Amino acid sequence: MRAAITLLVLLFSMCGAQTRSTQTEVQTESQSTGAAAAAAEVSTQLDIYAELRALRDMVEKQGAMLVEQRTTLRSTQDELKKMKAENTAVKERLVASETKVEALETVNAAQETEMKAMATRLAVSETEVANLKKENTAQQTQLTNIKTEVMKLINANAAQDSRISASEAEVENLKIVQEAELTAVKIRLAATEMEVQNLDKKITETPKVAFSAGLTDSGHIQAGSTELNLVFTKIFTNVGEAYSSITGFFTAPVRGVYYFRFTLMDTERSGWLGITMLRNEQRVIHVSEYENDKVRIYGSSGVTLPLEVGDVVNLRVSAGTRLFDDTANVSTFSGFLLFTL
Ligand SMILES: *[C@@H]1O[C@H](CO)[C@@H](O)[C@H](O)[C@H]1NC(C)=O
Repeated sequence: MRAAITLLVLLFSMCGAQTRSTQTEVQTESQSTGAAAAAAEVSTQLDIYAELRALRDMVEKQGAMLVEQRTTLRSTQDELKKMKAENTAVKERLVASETKVEALETVNAAQETEMKAMATRLAVSETEVANLKKENTAQQTQLTNIKTEVMKLINANAAQDSRISASEAEVENLKIVQEAELTAVKIRLAATEMEVQNLDKKITETPKVAFSAGLTDSGHIQAGSTELNLVFTKIFTNVGEAYSSITGFFTAPVRGVYYFRFTLMDTERSGWLGITMLRNEQRVIHVSEYENDKVRIYGSSGVTLPLEVGDVVNLRVSAGTRLFDDTANVSTFSGFLLFTL
């Protein structure tokens, strides 16, 4: 231990001016503690010196190396600082990149979802497209058929068109003919209407005269020694009131042609039946029958007479003869105006 310390003392004593003050303190200590030991070991000092020199060289070398290493260390530290700064920057960029990556991942995830959805839709669309293709094929076939039909129809239509044109021309001609006919008919209708109006007027203006009457409900009418005017009391018709059921006379209301007729009956006796028609007391017709077997006999006749206004017509039963009538109306007198003059 002591030898080592001594060696160190020596070593330090031979060191540069830098360590000199420290050396003095150590020398002082060594002088007080081990002067004798140092003397004993003088013989070995030469070797030691040599070793010490070698050591000193080594130390120097080491020092130089140390300086060198310090320089290196400094530069390394600088580099390290730089690297740290760079690292920080890189870290920041990394964080930023990570953030971006996260964002991109999120976007990516969303896009993936979208892609999946799109893939599903694509599959559906593909199926639809396939179906549509099928339909299209079917429709094309149909379309071809329809085209063929349409062509047929067009041809038929053209034929019909020409027929229609011909028909239209015919119709036009017919129209013209019919219009002419219609005009003619209209003219004739107007004439006819005028005629009808005139006739209507005439009929309205012409007096209506017609009568028919039965003799009596009370059985026999007996003439005495002279002719007896007959009064037909049972009125069946008396349009115009020209016949009087009180006097038995017909009085002409207008100038015209009249027709008169009678049927008279008798029964249950033997003898003559005589009837006379008179116009203004002048005899016109006389009818007589003889009855001998108590069966019914009839006297009847008719005449067309022109009469002036106020002319009278009546019937008489001949003197000594008789007539019969009851509710059966077997004895009647009738007359009417045929037309005016
Ligand atoms: C005779 O004439 C009257 C009207 O005057 C009528 O009521 C009656 O039925 C007629 N008699 C016959 C048998 O037709």
